[in-house]
Amino acid sequence: MPTITINGVACEFTPGQMILQVANAHGVEIPFYCYHDGLSIAANCRICLGEAWAPNPRNDNKLEPFMGGKLVPTCQTQAQDGMVVHTDSPKAVANQKAVMEYLLINHPLDCPVCDQAGECLLQDYSYQYGRGVSRFEETKVKNPKKNLGPNVYLYSDRCIMCTRCVRFTREVSGTAELYVDGRGNREEIDVFPGVALDNEIAANVIDLCPVGALLDKDFLFAQRVWFLKRTASIDGITASGDNLWVEHNEGKVYRIKPRTNLEINKHWITDEVRYGWKHVHSDDRLRSPRRRQYGALVEDDWNRCLDKAAEGLAEAAEAGKRIALLVSPMLPCEEAFALAEFALSLDPHAVLGVGPVPFEGQDKVFPPGASEDDARAFKLYAEKAPNARGVRRVLAALTGAEPLEFAKWTARAQADDAGAVIITANYREACPIPDLLRVADRESGRFVVVIDTLNGPLVESADVVLPGATWVEKGGTFENARGTLQAFDAAIPPIEFAKPEGQIASDLEAALRGVEVSATSASSVVVVDEGPGQVPQAAEIATPRGPTFSPADTRTRMGDTHAALAMFKTDVRYPEAAKPEEADMRMVEL
Ligand code: SF4
Ligand code: FES
Repeated sequence: MPTITINGVACEFTPGQMILQVANAHGVEIPFYCYHDGLSIAANCRICLGEAWAPNPRNDNKLEPFMGGKLVPTCQTQAQDGMVVHTDSPKAVANQKAVMEYLLINHPLDCPVCDQAGECLLQDYSYQYGRGVSRFEETKVKNPKKNLGPNVYLYSDRCIMCTRCVRFTREVSGTAELYVDGRGNREEIDVFPGVALDNEIAANVIDLCPVGALLDKDFLFAQRVWFLKRTASIDGITASGDNLWVEHNEGKVYRIKPRTNLEINKHWITDEVRYGWKHVHSDDRLRSPRRRQYGALVEDDWNRCLDKAAEGLAEAAEAGKRIALLVSPMLPCEEAFALAEFALSLDPHAVLGVGPVPFEGQDKVFPPGASEDDARAFKLYAEKAPNARGVRRVLAALTGAEPLEFAKWTARAQADDAGAVIITANYREACPIPDLLRVADRESGRFVVVIDTLNGPLVESADVVLPGATWVEKGGTFENARGTLQAFDAAIPPIEFAKPEGQIASDLEAALRGVEVSATSASSVVVVDEGPGQVPQAAEIATPRGPTFSPADTRTRMGDTHAALAMFKTDVRYPEAAKPEEADMRMVEL
């Protein structure tokens, strides 16, 4: 393989790769602003410039200064076999200092009030490559703040004109709302008159901006980024399987960002996925279990509600009636397996069905006109459930037959022989589907257990309500629209007394077996999100009644016990763990 030496490190590369790409792949640090793996190369920021020497075949392959010894943009210069590059030579370092000084001439230096502080390349490179003090004494040019669209603000005076945002709207979204207006120190990013930056993937420009110029309205002044912890996750609201970082602190989600996966979402996510987590902390969340007493639903502790649910379900099964279980496509495969196993243990002929799969609009590929297999294409999915395929796969393996789709399940669950129903929902909005409400109708005489996350009419019809957990509060595996199985971990603990649906299945089974839990151990305290120098935050969580549900163990058991689920032992993709942040400075505990 050809080899190039960058800053003294020998790096193998694939022909065609740029020097900066090779350096990034081998962990050799070269500063860069305008370069991005997902965009064309503009080479306009000039901070990546390096000195290069290349073998001259006409001179016995002796190393000679490349391009006459001029500094070359490493982001735009192809690596050559035998080349030697230095971005740490006096000439290259002088350029880095000059670029930094130039970029900071009109910069407002308002880091204390800037959302980007802590994850800003301008800040980082000032520290690493800048000169420490400003020699600029003249008046700075002040550019206006602009409202670019529903999710994005532009603080123009922080912009370094790298044009990543402009290239994104031209090359990825294909909508071209942004352009460069003016010249010289009056240059500004702007939207065309009468146009808003409001395409379905517009907020990716916030992640692309290497400085604090493009800011997320939703995250504005919400949290300092150094307090955020990130957990690798998967899109939990559509069938995309997009890879995400869930960023959270003290048990609260603050933002969701894309996690690069070139096979699935490249470097991007839709705005829908980025902001689609608000139901996690909604006031309408079910926070504790409820059971029906004298006709009214009352909040009660887990033990009594589990006992009541187990009793009602067992009564129906003993009377020879069918148990009908509706597994929501919002649930991970492991939970579908645990719930279905529980239903089948009560009634070997249980009626298993897949919950309604919401669709909105049509699939859309970006940029417009691209095929979804193009290297740079990004797809928005109309299917608004993350795991319909996974749930079908699990139910089919357990019963040996295709599971009932929602319409057939509702018809079957309303038949005379259906004695009890377990309905799981976990949608982003309360589930007002009339067919479902008919199944849960109180006049029908069926015993109804609802496992859901949000208050709504479905909850009102139940005999027992058990509060479930959203996808960021638990782990599991989703199968996306292309059939890729991807595992994810819990980012935050479940809200108040909610539990993951897999744990609820385990607890119901324990209640059925008569396992008792003392009232004093009904909840326990866990420490969440403790970071260096941070006061730990405690959260009270409901104690499991049955064995603690483990998605990883359940995956193994699924593969071991059902040949049709063997792929859960072999094909599940796991996210890379987030690299621990290394502080540049020593933390002092106060
Ligand atoms: S707004 Fe940000 S991404 Fe756009 S050109 Fe300026 S610095 Fe670059
Ligand atoms: S990263 Fe090379 S010129 Fe900007």
